[in-house]
Amino acid sequence: MHLGLISAMEQEQTGLLALLQSPRRETCGMREYVTGMLGGTRCTCVLSRWGKVAAAATATMLIERFGVTHILFTGVAGAASRGVAVGDIVIASSLVQHDMDASPFFPRFEIPLLGVAQFAADATLSERLARAAQRFVEQDAPTLLSADERSAFSMREARVHHGIIASGDQFIGSQARLDMLREQLPGLLAVEMEGAAVAQVCHEFGLPFGVVRTISDDANEHAPVDFMRFVERVASRYTLGIVTRFCMP
Ligand code: ADE
Repeated sequence: MHLGLISAMEQEQTGLLALLQSPRRETCGMREYVTGMLGGTRCTCVLSRWGKVAAAATATMLIERFGVTHILFTGVAGAASRGVAVGDIVIASSLVQHDMDASPFFPRFEIPLLGVAQFAADATLSERLARAAQRFVEQDAPTLLSADERSAFSMREARVHHGIIASGDQFIGSQARLDMLREQLPGLLAVEMEGAAVAQVCHEFGLPFGVVRTISDDANEHAPVDFMRFVERVASRYTLGIVTRFCMP
């Protein structure tokens, strides 16, 4: 396995590069790709920046230039279901581009001329991710944050969920917008801005992929503040815990 590891922001991957053995750096397309060994797994880590185009370009480069055989996207997301709370982990079963609308020519959400609206994540990768996330939640998460930090983020005991993630070129910070998405996409658990773009590229190249997201906010009017606070203080600890367990089972 040669694993491509993508996050959108530096704060979502902080500390990961320091764990890579024999790292080799290469810059192309305004991004730095770092290849090395993590446990027994060969990894290429990269920051995509925000949004679907950035994520798609990054995934394509990982596949075509670096020859990765699997892709994992890790980062944060907004909660889109009542059972999902800040600090929980969502593993994608499938991903949809919530801003794709070529109706009346194609059904809502369907990618024109590809005939797919929801891209299924790889079941084996996702099961391995779920095991890593569950071990992280049981072993690390309880001591990861102080009591003060937990109450500042209104966090309860973290849970791991498996379900639909929607991506779009829009930060969701409105309860009305979120309610509309929830109505249009039954079973939706989380919203973010990159996963379904990586999913489309992997579908087109026939590559297995997985997406794991930690919930940073409730995608409502409080989201911009909650998101920034979570990203600055917590997000990378989740990535490190989950990815190291994934790579060193
Ligand atoms: N990533 C984290 N929170 C998000 C939100 N509310 N909308 C879109 N992407 C996000």
